[in-house]
Amino acid sequence: MRPRPPRPRPPGWSVTADVVVVGSGVAGLTAALRCAAAGAKVTVVTKARLDDGSTRWAQGGIAAALGDGDTPAQHLADTLVAGAGVCDEAAVRALVTEGPDAVRRLIATGARFDTDDDSGEILLTREGGHHRRRIAHAGGDATGAEISRALVEAVRRAGIETVENALVLDLLKDARGHAAGVTLHVMGEGQHDGVGAVRASAVVLATGGMGQVFSATTNPPVSTGDGVALALRAGAEVSDLEFVQFHPTVLWLGPEAEGQQPLVSEAVRGEGAYLVDADGVRFMLGQHELAELAPRDIVAKAITRRMLEQGAEHMYLDARHFGAEMWEHRFPTILAACRAHGIDPVTEPVPVAPAAHYASGGVRTDLHGRTTVPGLYACGEVACTGVHGANRLASNSLLEGLVFAERIADDITARRPWDTPAPAAAVPGSPAPAAAVPGSPAPAAGEPLLASETRCTIQRIMTAGAGVIRSARSLDEAAARLEAVHRDAVEELHRDGKTAEPGVETWEATNLLLVARVLVAAARRREETRGCHWREDRPERDDATWARHLLVTLRQDGTLDVGTTGTAAFPGTTA
Ligand code: SIN
Repeated sequence: MRPRPPRPRPPGWSVTADVVVVGSGVAGLTAALRCAAAGAKVTVVTKARLDDGSTRWAQGGIAAALGDGDTPAQHLADTLVAGAGVCDEAAVRALVTEGPDAVRRLIATGARFDTDDDSGEILLTREGGHHRRRIAHAGGDATGAEISRALVEAVRRAGIETVENALVLDLLKDARGHAAGVTLHVMGEGQHDGVGAVRASAVVLATGGMGQVFSATTNPPVSTGDGVALALRAGAEVSDLEFVQFHPTVLWLGPEAEGQQPLVSEAVRGEGAYLVDADGVRFMLGQHELAELAPRDIVAKAITRRMLEQGAEHMYLDARHFGAEMWEHRFPTILAACRAHGIDPVTEPVPVAPAAHYASGGVRTDLHGRTTVPGLYACGEVACTGVHGANRLASNSLLEGLVFAERIADDITARRPWDTPAPAAAVPGSPAPAAAVPGSPAPAAGEPLLASETRCTIQRIMTAGAGVIRSARSLDEAAARLEAVHRDAVEELHRDGKTAEPGVETWEATNLLLVARVLVAAARRREETRGCHWREDRPERDDATWARHLLVTLRQDGTLDVGTTGTAAFPGTTA
């Protein structure tokens, strides 16, 4: 008989809500507020504190056709170009047409954007791939922090129940296979201690991204792909994980720098900064009509190429011409981060290099944020709505979080699933249910929890094999090394009955391994270069074969099933 992970403890506590929202960034809190406003009883659970996710770190802003002469049609066109042929047009259309009013509602909720002193109009900047000024910002370069502040305050005002320091473990399902809540492990300072459950007939995943799967990223330490891993264990489809966006201009802190790195917003280029090599040459000129403001994948590739050609570890961003006053007023966060690392952008060019920034893929949804598991919704970076295609357009992510969270709330509150009696007690959502009973502190049957040190091993494997530049060889090697990590842990469990102690670090390492395996499997399969997926062994875009999505599910035996859609649109998302 196969040894099992430690016997699960029964949930120490359980609360019931109509809707449980997992995650507290722009998407999660928007969904929570709108569901609550429509009369639903909502509980928000979040892994750290309410404002600890990625939203707080967003600098540049939120894109919407708010300026004179701008239109949703122009925003649509720029988004489709950036997405390199695999955006779902219906999803993009929803984003750009509903976006301006969603931003106005965010302002009504309390978010304060930067405005012109005289006219009171919202100030708009530009970023890569946008042909117009359409990025609203706050606090100069602290847009996400302001949005987070406004939404957290609104959630508190609305009296929505929140559970902090709560790591979500697995989805609960009812006898029909519908989502019925989540199990959680609450650490330290949460209102409920230990392993518990929130039972709810609608579950909204808004857990953010997975940037921590690479060694260097702009993402905070909490971005470990927990939502994608949960959804896979629950049997949901994930899509487009191979499309990882590397932000071109991340402050370069040395070859050994690991973990979250300071972002130097694209808005700095939007306001006129330019990229130069060590000889002062502006290498983006002539590469694209928008030069430094080309779509992000093009700039990241150009920087990487130049680094390779010159054997350099970074390039430079030169914005000395802004002068001290503009730096202090417009980019105070970036100025402070640079100065904290001994670089003064007022007097010297800033060393920059690409780093992992955004997962364009995630849990596949339709136009209402529904995943392939009934009752399970996803929005924000954890989701793949089809809006971003192969390369997200700058500052479309906060907007996507807003618009699709609202769509989800509208779908849930129109259906009111809590009015339909639950058929039976909740059962685990895992496709391998033996060990994943409600409240289990261990993952699916036969799957061990990984030691926390494994996180670093996974990050190094991914950076070496699945980073900015990929090839069949680098990806094969990454896949083999990841499978070895997985196999060793499974063998140790089966041989000695040993698995790591349940806790945040071990669950995060376990989730990171699963999402890394999926990402590499998809990147190996996509034998072309498209958007931010750059295969040096397949340098061309191949529309005849690859203008479609890769869909991945987790089989019961822990292996991955990788399939494709017939076209660039997901089934069920066409208008
Ligand atoms: C930035 O400010 O450059 C990042 C904006 C984004 O990722 O959309």
